[in-house]
Amino acid sequence: MGSAVGLGNVWRYPYITGQYGGAAFILLYIGCVLAVGVPLMIAEFLIGRKTQLNPVGAFRKLRPGSPWVVTGWLGIVSAFTILSYYAVVGGWVLHYVYLSLINSFAGKSTEQVTDIFISMNVNPDLQIFWLAIFMFVTIVIVSKGVSGGLEAGNKIMMPLLFALLIVLSIYALQTSGAASGLEFLLRPQWQKIGPTAVLEALGQALFSLSLGMGTMITYGSYLSRRSNLVSSTFFIAAGDTLVAVLAGFVVFPLAFSFGLEPGAGPGLIFRTLPIAFAQLPGGYWVALGFFILLSFAAITSSISLLEVASAYFIDEQGWSRSRAGWTLGSAIFLLGIPSAIGEQFLGVMDALSTNYLLPIGALLIAVFTGWALTHNERIDEFSANDVTAVRLAVWSFLIRFVTPVALILIFLHQVRLF
Ligand code: TRP
Repeated sequence: MGSAVGLGNVWRYPYITGQYGGAAFILLYIGCVLAVGVPLMIAEFLIGRKTQLNPVGAFRKLRPGSPWVVTGWLGIVSAFTILSYYAVVGGWVLHYVYLSLINSFAGKSTEQVTDIFISMNVNPDLQIFWLAIFMFVTIVIVSKGVSGGLEAGNKIMMPLLFALLIVLSIYALQTSGAASGLEFLLRPQWQKIGPTAVLEALGQALFSLSLGMGTMITYGSYLSRRSNLVSSTFFIAAGDTLVAVLAGFVVFPLAFSFGLEPGAGPGLIFRTLPIAFAQLPGGYWVALGFFILLSFAAITSSISLLEVASAYFIDEQGWSRSRAGWTLGSAIFLLGIPSAIGEQFLGVMDALSTNYLLPIGALLIAVFTGWALTHNERIDEFSANDVTAVRLAVWSFLIRFVTPVALILIFLHQVRLF
């Protein structure tokens, strides 16, 4: 859950939903979570727990000498690509913690709050500075292997973030734009939905659930035989989706109330939320609390991205944990600099990840689990109290047919074959 809930839910989901017109896109998104996300998460957990290895080692162990190991390599490439720009946005959030701390939003108008975002966006030095801080924190946690302490913190911070989003949505639903916001969230505009929207919904589902690059293989390798893969998956998928949907119920009523375009792009939450914070009683503390909790959620996701790459170098190349963390983390920091300099580059890295790398990775993992593994290898991993025969049959059907076919169709469209 720490890996899944992050900027994907609170930053990316609202702005993508805004660009694709709201309600219809949300339904499409939930469809992708159920048809592709859930079966795939079970598959990743299964591969990880079965082998107790990093993604490269896992495919090598299950099918030695076969090209399937490429799936693991691809995951490492994806981890680099995603973390490089994820950390830039994580840096924005840290900058907003600082801005909240020095009370920058109080009494500001809509234009002034937008200007704060724009002035950050055109200031590469500032963004590189916060990118460095964000990567530093991520590296220290991964290289010290202190995720135990983080896990304990996560159990408090995650429910707090959730509670704060509920409070904020109640507030947002009382502002003047609530009716238009709700209409946007609840009345589907199907005309905005085409193959591109389907691809975006799928990319967003994979991104938000941390799927398609081996994060959940790596985390699955840390799971014990006693944990229930299926109920864990449902718990994570439901919690992750709920956080995203709630974020939408905060952002859109506010956007309509303050006259902001829901399709405003990656700056959406940074431009809408502070205006509300400026007007709320106790807004100083709400702003500070919100951005601190969001930083925390972002860090628990970024460590999972760095962990995937590190696990390979630790397990397979004999690197020490700190060598892996510092070397890979520094390389990712450098790769992040162009995204900090230009939002366009950030957009390219994001599109590369969510439209290509993750869907390809997801397809390979689905085909591997559904077709390369034997029926017995698959069901071995479930204990009798994990799943009923019916659920197992449903999952096998989804992972063998529905998930790969959906991914192939979407991908063929992406490369303009139809
Ligand atoms: N899911 C995280 C979020 O929503 C980001 C993330 C972590 C991720 N690990 C991942 C995305 C692996 C894709 C793949 O913020």
